[in-house]
Amino acid sequence: MSETFDDLQTSYGRCLRHGGFIARFYEIFMASHPDIPGMFKDTDFSRQYLALRRGITAAITHAGGSTLSRRMMTEMAQVHGRKGRAPVSPEMYQYWVESLLRALAEYDPQYNFALEQRWRKALAQTTQYFIALY
Ligand code: HEM
Repeated sequence: MSETFDDLQTSYGRCLRHGGFIARFYEIFMASHPDIPGMFKDTDFSRQYLALRRGITAAITHAGGSTLSRRMMTEMAQVHGRKGRAPVSPEMYQYWVESLLRALAEYDPQYNFALEQRWRKALAQTTQYFIALY
């Protein structure tokens, strides 16, 4: 049996409970690298917030070895692939991960070092998957 990441779904649930989490993530993410705001200049954020909200759930499920989220993972990776609608070069993923961890630290009252290591482990699987399909 592969490791599951139910503790991360619960952590993520605590973050989403009071609203504003995804918007705060984008605020941090936009400020994390000068190239990022321009990539989102035509983005409809009401759609994007929902897409990312689901994408993070899929990433946690995928990290636990579930194949249920595989199709969504592959579609997201294709969007960010070299020939995709929103290509993302591999070195940009560290900004995404660090921004998400900062938002988690702000929103999850039970966030601590051990939980951060768990998040890092799960998110690394997603970023490695996207990079492999780039
Ligand atoms: C593993 C990390 C990431 C996940 C899970 C993720 C997830 C997503 C999802 C679900 C969408 C919507 C796809 C669609 O509309 O079909 C999206 C769009 C997008 N993402 Fe990401 N993303 C990640 C990393 C990044 C990074 C690092 C960047 C930029 C440096 C980025 C830039 C974009 C852009 C520009 C769009 C298109 C927005 C639009 O439709 O206007 N993403 N992402």
